[in-house]
Amino acid sequence: MAKLKLGILISGRGSNLAALITACEQINFPAEIVLVLSNRENAQGLNRAKTANIPTQVITHAEFSDRKAFDSALTEALEHAGVELICLAGFMRLLGNDFVARWTDKIINIHPSLLPAFRGLHVHERAIKAGVRLSGCTVHYVRSEVDDGPIIIQAAVPVLTDDDEVRLAARILQSEHQIYPEAVRLIATGQAHPHGDIVKLTACDSAEATLINPSIKGK
Ligand code: GRF
Repeated sequence: MAKLKLGILISGRGSNLAALITACEQINFPAEIVLVLSNRENAQGLNRAKTANIPTQVITHAEFSDRKAFDSALTEALEHAGVELICLAGFMRLLGNDFVARWTDKIINIHPSLLPAFRGLHVHERAIKAGVRLSGCTVHYVRSEVDDGPIIIQAAVPVLTDDDEVRLAARILQSEHQIYPEAVRLIATGQAHPHGDIVKLTACDSAEATLINPSIKGK
């Protein structure tokens, strides 16, 4: 079966990109990366893509008079590469409504919180301040509001008493690297698809374990 063609949009480090590259290198994985696009020429993720022989392109927003022109250049590059699903992976530019409409149900994003809690920036700091016992990460379809859209997959990660934002971010990032490839696999195999405001799953839900923090085991 033909593999789903992915375009990955990055602005920085690219560790989620690396997780997707690793997944796509598995022979049975149902997707392949056809383009990595960055809006910053010094994004570390570009090197990860080049090492894996994946085509890269830099489109810097400063080159364009407005967001619409920048977004059109992105669409042109993505269409030219034959991209079927866009994965935002630490892409730090807001995308305009026209772009989102052009790619409806064809853009997904990863966010380091259990949405709809903690949209936006500084999420780990805000989660710690709010005193939540569980945080985590979410892969969702992109809609015109930031960090909003039908949820595909989530991982819950305990917030520990001695966590600071760096430690919490690092633990959540490990889960991000697990769920982003899984979200792509679910979409590529038709096991997850958007239906209005939610995603319909034909994959197995997990009833394996309820995560409780603090633990009540052995009490
Ligand atoms: C991740 O925490 C992701 O959830 C957020 O931006 C960060 C990107 O990290 N959207 P990386 O560039 O994938 O390492």
